[in-house]
Amino acid sequence: MTTSRQMRLLTHPPGTLPIPGEVALEEVPVPEPGPGQVLVRNLYMAIDPGLLLRMRCLDGLVPDFPLGEVMWGHALGEVVASADPGKRPGDVVLHRLAWREYALADAAKFDVVDADLYPSRSHHLSSAVVAWVGLSRIRIAPGDTVVVSSAAGAVGSVAGQLAKLRGAGRVIGSVGSPDKAGRVVRTLGFDDAFDYHEGWPDLGGVDVYYDNVGGQQLEAAIEAMNPHGRIVLCGGTEQQVSGQPHGIRNMQLVIAKRLTLQGFTTDDHPDVIAEFTREFPPLVARGAVVLPETVIDGLENIIPAMRAQLEGAHFGKVLLRFRPDGRPAPATPRS
Ligand SMILES: NC(=O)c1ccc[n+]([C@@H]2O[C@H](COP(=O)([O-])OP(=O)(O)OC[C@H]3O[C@@H](n4cnc5c(N)ncnc54)[C@H](OP(=O)(O)O)[C@@H]3O)[C@@H](O)[C@H]2O)c1
Repeated sequence: MTTSRQMRLLTHPPGTLPIPGEVALEEVPVPEPGPGQVLVRNLYMAIDPGLLLRMRCLDGLVPDFPLGEVMWGHALGEVVASADPGKRPGDVVLHRLAWREYALADAAKFDVVDADLYPSRSHHLSSAVVAWVGLSRIRIAPGDTVVVSSAAGAVGSVAGQLAKLRGAGRVIGSVGSPDKAGRVVRTLGFDDAFDYHEGWPDLGGVDVYYDNVGGQQLEAAIEAMNPHGRIVLCGGTEQQVSGQPHGIRNMQLVIAKRLTLQGFTTDDHPDVIAEFTREFPPLVARGAVVLPETVIDGLENIIPAMRAQLEGAHFGKVLLRFRPDGRPAPATPRS
């Protein structure tokens, strides 16, 4: 019998990082689709800092994963059996039923994508859309100096490249190690990069700051901004990892410099997402944007991979690849 492994949440992690005992990996029979349903074998799921936010119970800040249930998240898979005329075996689909090797649901839960749209199928799970929407919220003027924090991360690595394409004069990355600093310059075309653990160097005035981390670096950016500078607030990883809020102590400078601080959430901007869908894939196809990835194999390794991501061990988008099982697909269902 074909089986599928899946992961349930047992307790909300009290700490800032998850540990294996907080989840249960179980093996269940792969079900057959009922009328209107589709069975998908998952290929990849996205490992994002947001998963951990949903595992922890943050009092309504983000929707929690319910205790005892299989968790959810962005995944890419291949249809192996379908009882819906709109989906065929072999279709590659995007959906939210991650944390399981096989996903069964109504056909409407799966969006068929062009499997050849990007150089790698996994690129469908990139965080480029977040960078695209974030940059659409602020103005980049020709020649601007742009700083991106967590520049080696899933969002930051793309935000820096897009800022350059939108006319920035200098794009500078803030990262957690000298090795990452070298890699964002060598492989992603950043003009410069620095290790924030050494503090922010003198950058000669910053016009735009794309902030993925908040906290101490947001404060450093406010110090470094030119008058009328723009800050796009994308994420707060520093507080997520440390568990310690860091108050901004130089708010007076925001006023004195007439800065703009703009927060956003990607889902609020369907028009910009539509623009991204049209305009971004060709940039990747012609090599104008690179999508760096770190791939971890096997659902059993997801908790250590999530920890390692937040500890800064990975480069680019972090993906879990489901084991290529070679197991036979279940029989095509009767309709
Ligand atoms: N607004 C939205 O709609 C939206 C959508 C998606 C994601 N987000 C948020 O955007 C941010 C970036 O997302 P992502 O997926 O690209 O994650 P990410 O930046 O790849 O997150 C992992 C990285 O965070 C960095 N980090 C860990 N602790 C840090 C600290 N104390 N200070 C500074 N950096 C630290 C590490 O890089 P280093 O090695 O360089 O330290 C690590 O590699 C996250 O906060 C995420 O929640 C927002």
